[in-house]
Amino acid sequence: MTEKFSRSSDETREFARQFGASLPRGSFIAITGTLGAGKTEFVRGLCEALNFTGTVTSPTFSILNIYHGSLHGAPLDINHFDLYRLNTASDLQSIGYEDYFYGDGVTIVEWAEKFPELLPQHAMHVHLEIAGEHERRIEFERYSMLLRR
Ligand SMILES: Nc1ncnc2c1ncn2[C@@H]1O[C@H](COP(=O)(O)OP(=O)(O)OP(=O)(O)O)[C@@H](O)[C@H]1O
Ligand SMILES: [Mg+2]
Repeated sequence: MTEKFSRSSDETREFARQFGASLPRGSFIAITGTLGAGKTEFVRGLCEALNFTGTVTSPTFSILNIYHGSLHGAPLDINHFDLYRLNTASDLQSIGYEDYFYGDGVTIVEWAEKFPELLPQHAMHVHLEIAGEHERRIEFERYSMLLRR
């Protein structure tokens, strides 16, 4: 586990850009943390690292946003899920989540702890905690603790 302290949204995005710079195709990043911890801010930095510079907002009402980035010059889909408002896994099943979770894009999931049983074994985990008004503690795990049940 690696731990970092961020003192601003900019710094959180910068940590995310560093983390995102080495992600291969097919990566899955489970993001956890309370409301306002900075999950979406972190996703913004990941998207910048993957060469998507458009607007990134939590897909709260649509479950999934797909952004078109690139990796080593080739097009890359960035699949951004937010599971906060999902009540049952069947909503994920109905959109065919496996195509994204096990596809060749990069998949990023906010509120991943809601359905730990659906997370792929190759999920990495980023956990954010509020440590002060502008301070955030960010934990990076190569393998998701959510899977160690
Ligand atoms: N160090 C920091 N890192 C990230 N965000 C910060 C930091 N300091 C303050 N903030 C503020 O905290 C908020 C984080 O919002 P963000 O939408 O990223 O959180 P979230 O975890 O995605 O919340 P939600 O659960 O609602 O999706 C923003 O308003 C941001 O400006
Ligand atoms: Mg969010």
